[in-house]
Amino acid sequence: MNTSHKTVRHFITLTDLSSGEFRQIIARAIELKAIQHRGEIFEPLKNKVLAMIFEKSSTRTRVSFESGMAQFGGHAIFLSPRDTQLGRGEPVEDSARVLSSMVDCLMVRTFEHEKAELLAEYSSVPVINGLTDDVHPCQLLADMQTYFEQRGDIKNKTVTWVGDGNNMCHSYMHAAKLLQFKLNIACPEGFEPQKKFIDETADFIEITSDVRSACSNSDLIVTDVWASMGQEEEQKVREQAFNDFQVTPELMSLANDDALFMHCLPAHRGEEVSAEVIDGDKSVVWHEAENRLHAQKSLLEFLLVN
Ligand code: CP
Ligand code: NVA
Repeated sequence: MNTSHKTVRHFITLTDLSSGEFRQIIARAIELKAIQHRGEIFEPLKNKVLAMIFEKSSTRTRVSFESGMAQFGGHAIFLSPRDTQLGRGEPVEDSARVLSSMVDCLMVRTFEHEKAELLAEYSSVPVINGLTDDVHPCQLLADMQTYFEQRGDIKNKTVTWVGDGNNMCHSYMHAAKLLQFKLNIACPEGFEPQKKFIDETADFIEITSDVRSACSNSDLIVTDVWASMGQEEEQKVREQAFNDFQVTPELMSLANDDALFMHCLPAHRGEEVSAEVIDGDKSVVWHEAENRLHAQKSLLEFLLVN
């Protein structure tokens, strides 16, 4: 029997939010950051517990959720398949029922997107997607917060995605639709985003293999690794395919004068981005990484307090 509670809000893709809610979470993240930087204690999640299932590696996602829960007066539990029964084949449905009877929120980072959806279906508490093969919605909360802080509203701006049509690209496509910016996607043939995401966001995106024209007049250039987690064996093939898709100072010079550079990290200097760009003055990657903390605290407050 499906024991899901229909009123529970999950965050499995960005489109689980309305445009207004997305904007509200960004605005609140900026306030929570100011509270944190002033050193004020703010504990809206006292005694609340977040369980985090990680089937893939993580630095930023794990530490931002764990610190965020501690700062909010709550607690986070790290669960890996190596030492839980999930790794020994206990069904996701059973794990969802059991974990959600003990904690207030679940986070999952996994391979198949359907697994995150199944966890949400059988969980009685909110489930947050901390990355699947299909999408990485938490990263977009932080990226959009960073753009708003640095340059103001992103509505009607032009963003250029350079590289693989991967999970990050799909979440940028969702963000384009929700926040109404134009998204150029420059990728090699055969590495385009999945059709279902193209169909969902067609009015807001343009896909091309001409990386130079895609970067022209852009307000934000974003890239990501050529081989994502789970694609390690394709690294050599991908290095060849993506050879012309490195974000260089020359590509950045085609964009608008005040264009920013973002990367969700971890980055490979000399592959998808040159060291001059990621360590240069247009790069906001360190703000972007820090904002994972503030944006996810805002998300946790939205899901658990409101
Ligand atoms: N950007 C991001 O999600 O980083 P981690 O893989 O370190 O969590
Ligand atoms: N596309 C990358 C993002 C890592 C945060 C991956 O899935 O490995």
